[in-house]
Amino acid sequence: MAYSDKLMDHYENPRNVGAFDKGDESVGTGMVGAPACGDVMKLQIKVSEDGIIEDAKFKTYGCGSAIASSSLVTEWVKGKSLDEAMAIKNTEIAEELALPPVKIHCSILAEDAIKAAVADYKQKHVK
Ligand code: FES
Ligand code: FES
Repeated sequence: MAYSDKLMDHYENPRNVGAFDKGDESVGTGMVGAPACGDVMKLQIKVSEDGIIEDAKFKTYGCGSAIASSSLVTEWVKGKSLDEAMAIKNTEIAEELALPPVKIHCSILAEDAIKAAVADYKQKHVK
């Protein structure tokens, strides 16, 4: 199976690998698993006081497409508002990386992870 250059680049040089302190008030953590293959993705966002995502990190235990998808979304969410981050579609990720059909669920994992991270952040801030 031929993978795109962008996919290989994100796979070989993943951006923003790591973790923030889960307990930090400015951090939202999303942890999701893919039923199809058992892969797990943890994605975290660091949000400024005016609601902008300043930084993002991920750790993915899974296939190359899952790693590339999470690497890509951590780049995409930086500088975005929470609503803008929620609007990221797996189809955009799949298209950017030219994921083959059997790997589409890897991009869904990334979309779910960012949504879970935003939800976690919001939940921390309900007053
Ligand atoms: Fe095995 Fe994703 S299917 S790592
Ligand atoms: Fe399952 Fe990529 S996340 S194969």
